[in-house]
Amino acid sequence: MPGFELFGDKERKELNDVLDNGVLMRYGFDGMRNGHWKAKELERELENVLKVKHAQLVSSGTAAVSVALASAGIGAGDEVIIPTFTFVASFEAIMMLGAIPVLVDIDDTLTLNPKAVKAAITSKTKAIMPVHMCGSMANLDELQAICKIHNLILIEDSSQATGATYKGKPLGSIGDLGCLSLDFVKIITAGEGGAVLTNNEKYYRHADHYSDHGHDHVGKDRGAETHPFLGYNFRISELHAAVGLAQLRRLDDFVAIQKKNYTIIRDALSQIPEIQFRTVPEGGEESYSFLSFFLPDLETTRKASAHLKDVGIDACFHYYDNNWHYIRKWDHLKDIKSLYPISNEVKEGLRYLQTKTFEESNHFIARNISCLIKLSWTESEVKQRSEKMVQAITAALY
Ligand SMILES: Cc1ncc(COP(=O)(O)O)c(C=O)c1O
Repeated sequence: MPGFELFGDKERKELNDVLDNGVLMRYGFDGMRNGHWKAKELERELENVLKVKHAQLVSSGTAAVSVALASAGIGAGDEVIIPTFTFVASFEAIMMLGAIPVLVDIDDTLTLNPKAVKAAITSKTKAIMPVHMCGSMANLDELQAICKIHNLILIEDSSQATGATYKGKPLGSIGDLGCLSLDFVKIITAGEGGAVLTNNEKYYRHADHYSDHGHDHVGKDRGAETHPFLGYNFRISELHAAVGLAQLRRLDDFVAIQKKNYTIIRDALSQIPEIQFRTVPEGGEESYSFLSFFLPDLETTRKASAHLKDVGIDACFHYYDNNWHYIRKWDHLKDIKSLYPISNEVKEGLRYLQTKTFEESNHFIARNISCLIKLSWTESEVKQRSEKMVQAITAALY
């Protein structure tokens, strides 16, 4: 997945444009810039490539989620439904606004199970946030239908699936708001950065102002700008935007390389009848940044994971035993280990985590291995890798 694997002259050229004029900030300093506005340029290109009216760059993917939520007016005491398999950023961003993350089960898409979503809706629910994990997507038609019935906002987190599409539309462009991360390990990277995507004028204006201390960005004198509402600093720098710009222009090439590598490995693993690949919703086209599959049970999956490591296959994740992306090991959330006081409303709202066991999510994550697809492999490396993977997994099975 990581675009950093293929850094080169294109990234260097964009960065040098910024360094040559010395304006590292995305706003102001018009006279010094020599016409270089990397953040603005990247926003316009994101709008074109991801087919949305508006893109607002921010400092990280986590910031993108917070800004998206705030832009939609979500805050104290509101409930936001998210999957149990996601990145910690999902609940961090929600809790930062004093809202309550409501984690619900996933299904064999490795994303939100629409039935679990329906069951979790209460009078406090304000939004549903599918997280398109490991290069593929949630069933967005079903989630959109649920949102329509219950008058909820759909916020897509497509940080791990930039370049994937659903029914011909880029992920991130389908919900009321989309979020993406441009951090160092994403398919296109800015080093650090993120973006909020939307077709909604009001949400866009909110995101634009909120991510820059509430500035209205009217006129050319920052000191004279007004603040229609409170904001924060989630700005991206021109240096990061410059790298992101060069990378975005390479997105199609990166997806094509990933697809080629993914297909070689998938074809090889398809020889193993016990392997079941993750379900991609009808009409979905992955970004091919991961190959995700299920084995018959937890014990075999643990063995396969260990064998893969033993034969030198890196970046294959068994998230059940990993602290990063799955509810099972998030004791800091379950025990609400916060540096600062958390409101009683949020504490009460998180009480379900003391007892809920998420058996359905365990059923899938315990048996899942997701393997990162890299960009820099040669064809013979991918072939060798796939042979070793077949051997390691077969050894775990028999
Ligand atoms: C699904 C998802 N959402 C959000 C983020 C947060 O992005 P960032 O690291 O840019 O804050 C990540 C990062 O890994 C992610 O995987």
